[in-house]
Amino acid sequence: MIRFLVIGHRAHTTADFKLDDICGGAGRLDILCRCVNSAFFLSHDLRKDVELLLVLEGGEDAPKTVRFRGDELRYLNPDERSTASLIRNALMKRVGDEEVRSSPGVYISRRSFGDVIGSLKGECTFVYMREGGQDVRDYEFPKDPCFIMGDDRDPDEEEESVIGSVGADRISLGPVSLHANHCMVIVHNEMDRRRAA
Ligand SMILES: C[S@@+](CC[C@H](N)C(=O)[O-])C[C@H]1O[C@@H](n2cnc3c(N)ncnc32)[C@H](O)[C@@H]1O
Repeated sequence: MIRFLVIGHRAHTTADFKLDDICGGAGRLDILCRCVNSAFFLSHDLRKDVELLLVLEGGEDAPKTVRFRGDELRYLNPDERSTASLIRNALMKRVGDEEVRSSPGVYISRRSFGDVIGSLKGECTFVYMREGGQDVRDYEFPKDPCFIMGDDRDPDEEEESVIGSVGADRISLGPVSLHANHCMVIVHNEMDRRRAA
């Protein structure tokens, strides 16, 4: 299983935004929607062996985590607006202690970044994507990686200390700063090529 975990530092945790205003009113939810696209879409299929966790840290009801499972996903289209609608539907769900399914392959919970990392310990190897880390081309991907990345902001000090506490590998995709969803495409491509070799 390939996992991506993206921290949406201002992404809204209530469903009070308009689908026409996901950049502003929803706290840069547009970035997370593009991550959904890049994590799952192939030209004519979806990647079934991928799970994407979006930690939403903005708005009145933070934190919440929306989890997408490639092997169950339905009603996912490539455009940002319909993806934002799936996320907004998830945010309309009443969530208590347990994770709730809002549509096929989409789940929501009250988990924070630290909670998500804690719940994945032992199930995956954490890989922190950062400029200045070990070059991905010299990196042997683990069997069940969980790639951690920021949205338009890097993980803050507290989040970095959580990442440090699980001994994440720190991996770079090259010398320039990229968008998070572009990082996903490159990571997928590197893994695809090595699987095919
Ligand atoms: C838009 S960047 C965040 C801000 C960016 N670090 C900057 O200084 O402009 C989004 C995320 O993508 C990942 N990222 C961006 N460029 C990268 C690179 N060259 N190598 C590995 N990860 C990268 C990091 O996780 C980063 O937090």
